[in-house]
Amino acid sequence: MVVNKHRALSPASYVPADLVQPRVRLAVSGEAALLNSTTAAAAEKMFAAAAADGVTLTLASGYRSFATQTSTYGSYVSSQGQAEADTVSARPGYSEHQTGWSFDIGDGGGACGFQPCFAEQPAAVWARDNAHRFGFVVRYPWMFHAITGYYYEPWHLRFIGPEAATDMKSRGIATLEEYFGLEAAPAYR
Ligand code: DAL
Ligand code: ZN
Repeated sequence: MVVNKHRALSPASYVPADLVQPRVRLAVSGEAALLNSTTAAAAEKMFAAAAADGVTLTLASGYRSFATQTSTYGSYVSSQGQAEADTVSARPGYSEHQTGWSFDIGDGGGACGFQPCFAEQPAAVWARDNAHRFGFVVRYPWMFHAITGYYYEPWHLRFIGPEAATDMKSRGIATLEEYFGLEAAPAYR
């Protein structure tokens, strides 16, 4: 399931059937602390491995329902306008967070949450180097917004499985669009 500005959730009201709360350090509660069961299990392994390396990851935003994304995106539109909002937040029905396959991480110290400087925090550095081993890719890499549709999000991870994530990394392929041979999705049609 690849979701981008050309590939909406279908149906738009999609809800994963197997949402669970992973046993990891949570920076959120309720719906936002849920992931689909496969992603949750992989997250548990990844957070434990990071901790063993002395790096604390927190789950900063997991599943978001269509209704939640409506208000999340709406608040970006209110504060920044639609053009700017579209570079950082998905329209409802177009967010990977609604799939249960994605989540945002925070650093143990809480520094630079959802800000560009997060890229230099230990959690982001560790994830960039190690997330593939657990099946995750940094879904919106630096300077690939012409393909992904979004600015760099060093906190946003997407599960695709360890084999595919490791293959992508070793071949130096930065985006799911390129890896799966899908068209670039810089904007909504
Ligand atoms: N921030 C990502 C693109 C989302 O809203 O799903
Ligand atoms: Zn995200």
